Amino acid sequence: MAIRKIDELNIKDKRVFVRVDFNVPIEQGRVTEPHRIDSALPTIRLVLSSAKKVIIASHLGRPGGKKSAEWSLAPVRDYVEQALATPVTLAPDCIGAEVEALVREPHPKIILLENLRFHKEEEKNDLDFSRALASLADVYVNDAFGAAHRAHASTAGMASFFHEKAAGLLLFKELEYLGRILSSPERPFITILGGAKVSDKIGILQTLLSKVDALLIGGGMAYTFLKARGAGVGKSLVEEERLTLALEIAAQAEARGIPFLLPVDHVVADTAKKNPSTVEGDIPPDFLGLDIGPKTADQFSTEIRKARMALWNGPLGMFEVNEFSRGTISIAKTLAESRAISIVAGGDTVAAITKAGVEEKITHLSTGGGATLEFLEGRKLPGIQALET
Ligand code: 3PG
Repeated sequence: MAIRKIDELNIKDKRVFVRVDFNVPIEQGRVTEPHRIDSALPTIRLVLSSAKKVIIASHLGRPGGKKSAEWSLAPVRDYVEQALATPVTLAPDCIGAEVEALVREPHPKIILLENLRFHKEEEKNDLDFSRALASLADVYVNDAFGAAHRAHASTAGMASFFHEKAAGLLLFKELEYLGRILSSPERPFITILGGAKVSDKIGILQTLLSKVDALLIGGGMAYTFLKARGAGVGKSLVEEERLTLALEIAAQAEARGIPFLLPVDHVVADTAKKNPSTVEGDIPPDFLGLDIGPKTADQFSTEIRKARMALWNGPLGMFEVNEFSRGTISIAKTLAESRAISIVAGGDTVAAITKAGVEEKITHLSTGGGATLEFLEGRKLPGIQALET
């Protein structure tokens, strides 16, 4: 089934509802990580250039169906207004008489609806709530890739009320790059996986194992693989209940004859995460691994330099602490300098890319967390299905 792209729609002089995923970190009333917002701005600018009204909608956090100042989109409004250099009005709610009045008036041209999850009906994909949201606009655009795995009123239910509906530029771009990984990756295609747990990555490991030309594993999840192979991992994070699975995954990679790289050295620290040092091979009993070591970074870099396409999900160490960030940062830089089409997914990994200052050199920084993982697991995402015509 086909999905239309925003530029195939006639939005001239229309009221356009744009569902975005502006679920971004906020501290002390300010957006601290705007990647998701910045990524959706091209769609908003495009709509702004010809529509009569731009109605932007998003969720923020998990306020559980209750209104609260803590989860207001006010800081997001400030950020968007500054980024667009155009006034953006924050509606007092996302449905209701006041919002309808704001939508009817020619001004303001851009309205940001208040947090959709202030209504419990949003997450229930409630029909009446979907209808109320849909009544605000003539055209529906979904650019919220990060929320596409949620079957909620604004991502799924309301789409059925529109004849004119399409994917925004960001959603389309996500589908293009992530879809290519599943359908026809450039070869050699490598995947770098990190992050704390094997259990978060089982689905993606199972889908990608048959597709990758090399698999590089670091971060907390590497210690489960290492322990399964009998290595000493000290007090590092290990998922005991995943040891067998780890062995099976390693065996599958070996059966395919692809490079399957685990760390060969580590930056370790004591249990208080103090006194860092580098060790090769086994980690001493009272220490824990918190970053890949320089030899591992070299081995990973050699594979990355050979690749024509690379997917990276999950940091390779506790990169938010400078002593344990070197491995992750060096891999970010190698990837940025490589010839590979590079796709980086997951909030922490994107943050690591930003910390390394190489975001401009990465081909695609995915805005999805759970959505990207589910997509790469080969699952159908409700937010995408709802756009099919
Ligand atoms: C995300 O951050 O992954 C999306 O915005 C979805 O948020 P949720 O997990 O609260 O549904």
